[in-house]
Amino acid sequence: MSSFRALLVEKTDAGFTRQLVERELDDLPEGDVLIDVRYSSLNYKDALSATGNPGVSRNFPHTPGIDAAGLVLESTVAEFSHGDEVLVTGYDLGMNTCGGFGQRVRVPGGWVVPLPSGLSLRDSMVIGTAGLTAALCIHKLEEAGMNTDSGAILVTGATGGVGSVAVKLLSQLGYEVAAVTGKADQHEFLERLGATRILSREDARQGAERALLKETWGGAIDTVGGEILFNTVKGLRYGCSLAACGLVDSPDIPGNVLPFILRNVNLLGIDSVELKLARKIEIWEKLAGPWQLQDLSELAEPLSLDDLDTAIDRILAGEMVGRGLIDLS
Ligand SMILES: NC(=O)c1ccc[n+]([C@@H]2O[C@H](COP(=O)([O-])OP(=O)(O)OC[C@H]3O[C@@H](n4cnc5c(N)ncnc54)[C@H](OP(=O)(O)O)[C@@H]3O)[C@@H](O)[C@H]2O)c1
Repeated sequence: MSSFRALLVEKTDAGFTRQLVERELDDLPEGDVLIDVRYSSLNYKDALSATGNPGVSRNFPHTPGIDAAGLVLESTVAEFSHGDEVLVTGYDLGMNTCGGFGQRVRVPGGWVVPLPSGLSLRDSMVIGTAGLTAALCIHKLEEAGMNTDSGAILVTGATGGVGSVAVKLLSQLGYEVAAVTGKADQHEFLERLGATRILSREDARQGAERALLKETWGGAIDTVGGEILFNTVKGLRYGCSLAACGLVDSPDIPGNVLPFILRNVNLLGIDSVELKLARKIEIWEKLAGPWQLQDLSELAEPLSLDDLDTAIDRILAGEMVGRGLIDLS
């Protein structure tokens, strides 16, 4: 099959448009590994790409999709051969390289992760970049000393992709989990994932005018940035850490050094995109083994390519719950 279906975003005088089209293999960039994409997933960054955010994508027409899992069709590198199950997350996939919202991708061999045994292609995309990022946050927090005796761990943007996987994985690992959400109708969902305490975004913003807040959190994963991020830093227990990975509310950190020099707390940066392949493989192996998530389906909203147009608007509006799983077969 030389033609395949893909979402195509085009730049027009009226703005950015998106539609499903037939594309040709020749439309794909040069690369070492051609993949028959079976599953992808919807991440916040895909919606930025699909709406022409120049911080994500500059070359149009373009197919977004920072995640892809499927079968190798052709490979010019020794590591992969026809029929191998593989996944790709991050690097330039879906940014300025045609991404997983098309049934074929062609990428450098250095981007490709062999699907670890213990994970299906489908499960790997329920996890996707969001889940990899949640796992990286926990990994780095544990390296910084977080353990199940540290106290409750706060997750912000908790019903979103990164947040929901973080709540579930932390709970499965034995942590006490508190969740910040703007969705009053999704408390039951968060409790099912393992949250034992739920805060509204307003709760999380309280005390913004104060220099320090009561020492409450044994660690935190922040996906939203801004006031909620820094308020959470001010509420960390002595010596504990916050892993910052997102900016859906704001890229700013409205704060000062006081929590760092009076409470010895740490602000940890997380990037799952340019992370070295060996480290990505290490985290994927963990997610297929000791950190394997049970009942992954409860996190997944099944989508097809035809559903993407509305799902992109929903994730931009902060309305998605869990992980949008795209079946391209
Ligand atoms: N650093 C990295 O490597 C990396 C990797 C993946 C993602 N990210 C970033 O992480 C963030 C989350 O990504 P995602 O794919 O999980 O997105 P998502 O599924 O849209 O989740 C974001 C969640 O944040 C909450 N939210 C939305 N708008 C908000 C606002 N104005 N104030 C406070 N909370 C708000 C919502 O949850 P509630 O309704 O439950 O509050 C929403 O579901 C994004 O900024 C993304 O770019 C970074």
